[in-house]
Amino acid sequence: MCGIIGLCYSSPRELGKLLYKGLLRLEYRGYDSAGIAVICERKLHVAKGKGMLRDLEEKLGFTKYTGSTGIGHTRWATHGAPSNINAHPHTDCSGVFAVVHNGIIENYDELKKRLIGRGHVFKSDTDTEVIVHLVEEYYRDTGDVYEAFKRAIRELRGTYAILMITSLEENKIFFAKKDSPLVVGVGDGYNVLASDIPAILDHTRRVVVLRDHWVGYATPSSVYVEDLATGKPVDYSAYIRLVEWSVEEASKGGYPFYMIKEIYEQPQALKSTIAGLKSSKELPLAVKAIVEANGRVFVTGAGTSYHAAEFYAIASSTLTGILAVPFIASEYEAYSESAREGDVLVAISQSGETMDVIKAVRKFKERGVRVLAVSNVVDSAIPRESHIALYTRAGPEIGVAATKTFLTQTLLLAWLIAGVAEYTGVLSRSEYSEVTSLLERAPRVAEISLERSEELARELSKSYASKSSMYYLSRHIGVPVAREGALKIKEIAYIHAEAYPAGESKHGPIALVESKFPVVFVAPGISLVEQAIKGNIEEMRARGAETVGVVCEGSPLKGLLDHVIEVSCPHWLLTPISHTPPLQLLAYYTATTKGLNPDRPRNLAKTVTVE
Ligand code: F6R
Repeated sequence: MCGIIGLCYSSPRELGKLLYKGLLRLEYRGYDSAGIAVICERKLHVAKGKGMLRDLEEKLGFTKYTGSTGIGHTRWATHGAPSNINAHPHTDCSGVFAVVHNGIIENYDELKKRLIGRGHVFKSDTDTEVIVHLVEEYYRDTGDVYEAFKRAIRELRGTYAILMITSLEENKIFFAKKDSPLVVGVGDGYNVLASDIPAILDHTRRVVVLRDHWVGYATPSSVYVEDLATGKPVDYSAYIRLVEWSVEEASKGGYPFYMIKEIYEQPQALKSTIAGLKSSKELPLAVKAIVEANGRVFVTGAGTSYHAAEFYAIASSTLTGILAVPFIASEYEAYSESAREGDVLVAISQSGETMDVIKAVRKFKERGVRVLAVSNVVDSAIPRESHIALYTRAGPEIGVAATKTFLTQTLLLAWLIAGVAEYTGVLSRSEYSEVTSLLERAPRVAEISLERSEELARELSKSYASKSSMYYLSRHIGVPVAREGALKIKEIAYIHAEAYPAGESKHGPIALVESKFPVVFVAPGISLVEQAIKGNIEEMRARGAETVGVVCEGSPLKGLLDHVIEVSCPHWLLTPISHTPPLQLLAYYTATTKGLNPDRPRNLAKTVTVE
């Protein structure tokens, strides 16, 4: 998730200062590198580099640039490590076009090959650079910048918010949008475009939120928009609205806390992750590494990422028959002794910087183990130290409690396991396609879960706020989800919560259950599992527990529970996607009902870089 901004005036001014200020407003969207491009008297100037914005300002002096039209970018790397060369804006061979982009171009590889064949020279490893060379190519054919821009956009598969300027047409910013956010700020004698409203509010409160497939260009006095899908012009003035938010409110998308914003961003984060998986070159390598792993796979992580590891282990043995040993990263000493050359370690860490996981990676590497990292931060320590790296595309997560990173991790892992099943012949080619097309429903599945749980989560939070202890129970693939639910309410609402496989109740924990003791059941849509959970619900009810269940649509368990949230379950591999959002909302609303700040839970840090 990157941040982009563009400003268009009719005469030169201190544009660098304005772009820099806008980028600071967007910094929360990504921050490994940044850059600007401005046009001044028909000349294009670019300043960009790796690092934090403030350091780059010292080094490159963004604020000293003057011009009438300019674009800027803060990068959260997806394709290509953070570096000076990979920072945006990207320029074409002749140096007259400059582009910034937020999103993923899925077919960049084939486009790049074709453009190289036509003599284009690429400077970066990014997917974005193909856009600017495509425009250059079509401009040669048409001699019309806007036509060339549209032709280039039509070639792209994937997600994008794109801004382009050119020294050929000094006072225009060309734009296109699909599946990545882009808004226009409508000014008086100028126009602004940005990924998000906070960067617009320093200039104007009149905003148009652009829709998918809209392309066009902004001049200082007008905005031309057309719908690429229908080829018809759009009357953008009909979409102008007045934004009342403060900058602080706007950077949280109007939500009171980052955590709830990030919970609601999950469908989009899953969409981006799917786009990334479909264009991933590393995924086939990861599949091969696992299949070739002497049948011995270890999988590790800490906290929420450990729950993803547990999900991987259960899903792997269920779908592929390949046993994976899950362990909590800080316990690496206990497991590394038995590791040997030819084994694989799957190391999961959203930040890529958790010290316990780094230590595990190093220890296993010493023993000749191949390491496969799963992270949300490109080129962070764990992917860097691993042999293969797979990335989720959740965008930066600011709330301390992990939410969207967990859903995207489990989706990526499910996709990986399906790939292994196909490679080993457990799934035929067509069965594999069937499974992945069900996995592609993840964004909608998460959306449905959020829609259906919001009201009950708010309601239940009123009584949960005064509870001191809870259980979260499940079986099979639901167990890691139950653990995640318990961790969420523990860390942000400070309620003691224990999660365990439901069959364990009668071996001890049920001794604590008395009237109104809250027990949350996570019931995956696997009929044998549902049947087993039925008995566990009954034994809890018999002791007066207050039961809540997250169940699949039409589940026979519905009638047995005090409160039910029915979710959509196209495939059991999607259980974390369907069943976790209600638990996140329950924790979130219980925390806020108690007057706690869920973004900053006590004693916790977002990234634990010490052992
Ligand atoms: C829980 C949470 C932590 C992290 C853990 C690992 O909400 O955020 O438990 O999951 O510290 O962090 P990463 O995934 O960055 O290695």
